[in-house]
Amino acid sequence: MMRTQMPEWRKLAEHHERTREAHLRELFAADPERGTRLTLEAAGLYLDYSKNRVTGETMRLLFALAEACGLPRAVRDMFAGERINTTENRAVLHTALRNRANAPVPVGGRDVMPAVNAVLARMADFARRVRAGQWTGHTGRRMRNVVNIGIGGSDLGPAMAAEALKPYGDRNLRVCFVSNVDGTHFAEAVRGMDPAETLFIIASKTFTTLETMTNARTARAWTLEALRDEAAVARHFVAVSTSAAEVRAFGIAPANMFEFWDWVGGRYSLCSAIGLPLMIAIGPENFAEMLEGFHAMDRHFAGAPLDANMPAILGMLGVWYNNFFGARTHAVLAYDQYLHRFAAHLQQLDMESNGKSVSRGGQRVAWATGPVVWGEPGTNGQHAFYQLIHQGTQMVPADFIGVCRSHNPLGDHHDKLMANLIAQTAALAFGKTAEELRAEGLRGGLIAHKTFDGNRPTNTILAASLTPHALGALTALYEHKVFVQGVIWDVNSFDQWGVELGKQLASAVLPELAPAGEPDLRHDSSTNALIRRYRGRRGR
Ligand code: F6P
Repeated sequence: MMRTQMPEWRKLAEHHERTREAHLRELFAADPERGTRLTLEAAGLYLDYSKNRVTGETMRLLFALAEACGLPRAVRDMFAGERINTTENRAVLHTALRNRANAPVPVGGRDVMPAVNAVLARMADFARRVRAGQWTGHTGRRMRNVVNIGIGGSDLGPAMAAEALKPYGDRNLRVCFVSNVDGTHFAEAVRGMDPAETLFIIASKTFTTLETMTNARTARAWTLEALRDEAAVARHFVAVSTSAAEVRAFGIAPANMFEFWDWVGGRYSLCSAIGLPLMIAIGPENFAEMLEGFHAMDRHFAGAPLDANMPAILGMLGVWYNNFFGARTHAVLAYDQYLHRFAAHLQQLDMESNGKSVSRGGQRVAWATGPVVWGEPGTNGQHAFYQLIHQGTQMVPADFIGVCRSHNPLGDHHDKLMANLIAQTAALAFGKTAEELRAEGLRGGLIAHKTFDGNRPTNTILAASLTPHALGALTALYEHKVFVQGVIWDVNSFDQWGVELGKQLASAVLPELAPAGEPDLRHDSSTNALIRRYRGRRGR
């Protein structure tokens, strides 16, 4: 049945009609316990969802919708390795990558855990050797630079986590990430690096991605130009991929390849061998701690009833705003500088997963699916775009993420940071009325400008400290939130056909940019004109 025709959906629509004007000021006034009642702890994270425009009835109706859409069954199917990625006929088992309980997870009748554990063990052995200076380069020098070359899911997760967990990293080892096919990215990343001390990790699920292969070839040329011996490739290049054949074709020996599997989606692959640069940066023990955090959230998600289930609550709140209030974006505002790439990771996780307009059955959906996800770390955003969140004409539901203990407890910085986080959520919820302004002595035309309507919904997520465990739990929380929403919106959250057309067109345009001859351009007039303009002015 079409989602919007389900009785549970209709009940929510009616409920929305009745309650949409309810103000958080009234909801809090009517229930002094609200700020502690609408909270939850899981996997070391604390969630306060009291500043959402919901009543107990709203949450009951949202959970009823989740039940009716088959969420509990869908969760079981994912964890059990059913082929829920139907358009690619694949299981979706990123949870097996951090299955610390090691319970068997069968795919096609075979337990995947021995292979998962074997790759983790190889990664740990390699990471230890690089960190200890035992994995030396072609000239016998220890590696001081590790450059991950990958893009999308083969970049964003480990890049985000390497930044987030910097305090756990070996500061003598520079771990950096090159993704963009823009040569500037590579050139600036390796500027000042000595090829004799530089290890490249070529990370690509398919090992055919244009950007990654281009950067990888450039990296090989850069290395060989300095070291002047093909044999150097074996010491300076390792690969992370699902395709041994493509890795071999590129010239990296299977012994230097770390495997993962087609049942790991790119944007869900941080816990696979794609996490190798992170493991080298923070060490296998800290990496294992991160996996524990992921696993703790996985267990919570799989086991907790919907009304006490953090990913389900966050997911259904997003549905409430997206589908009933018409919110089109979702802000993720991390009050921790180390999390400055967290929103970028979530953008791929969420938008590549749920940015779909066709249902799992192949019909066009008649309801809104994934929102635009965006964000910058606090407090920077406060002095940039928060104006619109406070007083703009559209509702921007937002998650505020903070930690109670800083890794850098300088003076009173952290109290000031957290005071801002807490104050923002209160200001957004309760605003400031014209009466309050008058009581403060304000008169005249400025009252309209200085009035804050409030009633702007937020979640607050707090961790004790940004440890590997906390980062794992936080990342898994969002993975599962995205899953919940994909089930409600009836989309396949695990394919990404929408990125293909641009790739195909780029390969058609590329030869037309080559300097030789005058190409017979058969595109639309804009595309043709852009190609001609570029050809006429290109650098070479
Ligand atoms: O183009 C999108 C995409 O396929 C992502 O889903 C993926 O994470 C990224 O490209 C990189 O793909 P690969 O790991 O195969 O290089």
